[in-house]
Amino acid sequence: MSKIISISNHKGGVGKTTSAINIGAGLVKLKKKVLLIDLDPQANLSQSLGLINEPINIYGALKGEYYLQPIEVLKGLDIIPSTLDLSGAEVELSSEPGREFILKELIDPLRASYDFIIVDSPPSLGLLTINSFTASDEILIPLQAQFLALQGLTKLIEVIDKIKIRLNKELKLGGVFITQYDSRKILNRDVVDIIQAHFKDEVFKTKIRDNIALAEAPSQGLDIFRYNSKSNGAEDYFKLSKELLKRSK
Ligand SMILES: Nc1ncnc2c1ncn2[C@@H]1O[C@H](COP(=O)(O)OP(=O)(O)OP(=O)(O)O)[C@@H](O)[C@H]1O
Ligand SMILES: [Mg+2]
Repeated sequence: MSKIISISNHKGGVGKTTSAINIGAGLVKLKKKVLLIDLDPQANLSQSLGLINEPINIYGALKGEYYLQPIEVLKGLDIIPSTLDLSGAEVELSSEPGREFILKELIDPLRASYDFIIVDSPPSLGLLTINSFTASDEILIPLQAQFLALQGLTKLIEVIDKIKIRLNKELKLGGVFITQYDSRKILNRDVVDIIQAHFKDEVFKTKIRDNIALAEAPSQGLDIFRYNSKSNGAEDYFKLSKELLKRSK
């Protein structure tokens, strides 16, 4: 049975999309079959893998025009792309009966075909994010090792708790992990201590270091392993993927 994971943090630019792509690609290297779902109207995940303005996308599926139709990006890795039009979905779907369950309903028939389904969530706590949490088994939260990293997280945890009570009893916090880490910066080290004190065992041992290759790979439409398999980014995301796999057993 597959596992559905939301990568979420309503803070922008913390590494959600980079992590969705490279954890996904890391799990593929570990012989898992993975589906990435781009649930962000910015469509960064789709663009980062070279898919721009795909006519069949998550938006049309959420509107009920068709079922999810995964596109293969490499062997073992499929994607449901997004489109800028998705920005209208929050309003358009707001009066649908069962509006929080639309994504879950779409994903359910695909579950058996994948080991992991990873949803890249937008930087907000609106209806799209709620759909993502309702459909998921676990939430992974990337945290930037920077001042104010924990600010606003209580709001995210509150939303997760409400979804657990009202919409998805099985939902779990799968853990938090640190991104864009620079060990030379004292501030980074201090923030990591604070995150560890707060989240304890929920914190993944692997930290994703600040690594330029991770920022370059999307411009070539590639995950980090195909872009530069020798980079720190590739090393870190492979370690993180292994840790995730170990935890999910
Ligand atoms: N470890 C890293 N080292 C260097 N650059 C990184 C790293 N992780 C992410 N980046 C870069 O930082 C920027 C933000 O990352 P990303 O898009 O993954 O964040 P996000 O949380 O998905 O943002 P948004 O909230 O807008 O969806 C991107 O330009 C990305 O290439
Ligand atoms: Mg993103």
